[in-house]
Amino acid sequence: MFHVEKLREEDFEFAVHLTDTMNWDLVKEDFEFAMKLEPDGCFLLFSDSEKIGLATTASFGRIGWLGNVIVDERHRGGGGGSVLVEHSIQYLKSKNVETIGLYGYIERIPFYMRYGFRYDSEFVLLKGKGFSSQTGSHVREAEKEDRREIVELDSLCFGASRKKLFDHLIGISGNICYILEDNKGMLGFAAAKVYNESAEIGPLVCRRECGDAVSDLLRAILGKLKDLDVLLCVGRKDSEIMINLKLHRFREEFPLARMFQGPPVSNNYFYVAESLERG
Ligand SMILES: CC(C)(COP(=O)(O)OP(=O)(O)OC[C@H]1O[C@@H](n2cnc3c(N)ncnc32)[C@H](O)[C@@H]1OP(=O)(O)O)[C@@H](O)C(=O)NCCC(=O)NCCS
Repeated sequence: MFHVEKLREEDFEFAVHLTDTMNWDLVKEDFEFAMKLEPDGCFLLFSDSEKIGLATTASFGRIGWLGNVIVDERHRGGGGGSVLVEHSIQYLKSKNVETIGLYGYIERIPFYMRYGFRYDSEFVLLKGKGFSSQTGSHVREAEKEDRREIVELDSLCFGASRKKLFDHLIGISGNICYILEDNKGMLGFAAAKVYNESAEIGPLVCRRECGDAVSDLLRAILGKLKDLDVLLCVGRKDSEIMINLKLHRFREEFPLARMFQGPPVSNNYFYVAESLERG
């Protein structure tokens, strides 16, 4: 018999071990962070008293995100995944979320469609190395005072305010953020979380009318990440970003389907995901 309980600190080891079976490269701190953002929205699936699965959610006003959905291989196909996903959806609805997004493997599209998710667009996980090159003069490193404008621009693109996320991203030692501006204000920004030898770029949000300037933003942040292993999740349609990265030997790890349950979020921005589990 399946049931769902809230994830607790003592379950982190199990969570890391389970997600290692899919090579998701998650560490204890990832689950710590997920719980900090959504203390009541990270879940464990049990079969009787055995822990067999996991899912995390993040709610940002009317938009929520579902991530890290996994069931132990030995228990798949028995209905546990459905219990977990339905529980997560119910939780997000209880937080007044109207649209739930996720990045899923292409082969999982039929699984999520059963819960009302619809395919939106293709994203690609890209991996490469930071490199230095010349950047335009309209790019500068963000300061704490820029945070409000960054959150505003992000919410225009994302569909809701992710202030609680940015409070943990910008101004945190090691992390970096660059902004692109003209004399009228901010046109785009790019943030990155930096770990020991690696970094994850995202979110990057940039007005489409900036055209090529999005490359300046990208080059500025990649310059700061020189020689580190860099990972980012980019919309396939953002060819300006894709071409630029592939020219610098970034390679595609695997494609992902962005799916939405509820009214889809559509906008006219260049976008790099913050993470697979938070949109
Ligand atoms: C996706 C996942 C969480 C579903 O969990 P589950 O407990 O197998 O889910 P359910 O039993 O409720 O639904 C099973 C569906 O998955 C598929 N399935 C069945 N057996 C399976 C197996 N051994 N392995 C993978 N998928 C299987 C089928 O499409 C099945 O549909 P059906 O009920 O019409 O037969 C699980 O397959 C998993 O952990 N996969 C690896 C991680 C992953 O892909 N996570 C999703 C990230 S997008």
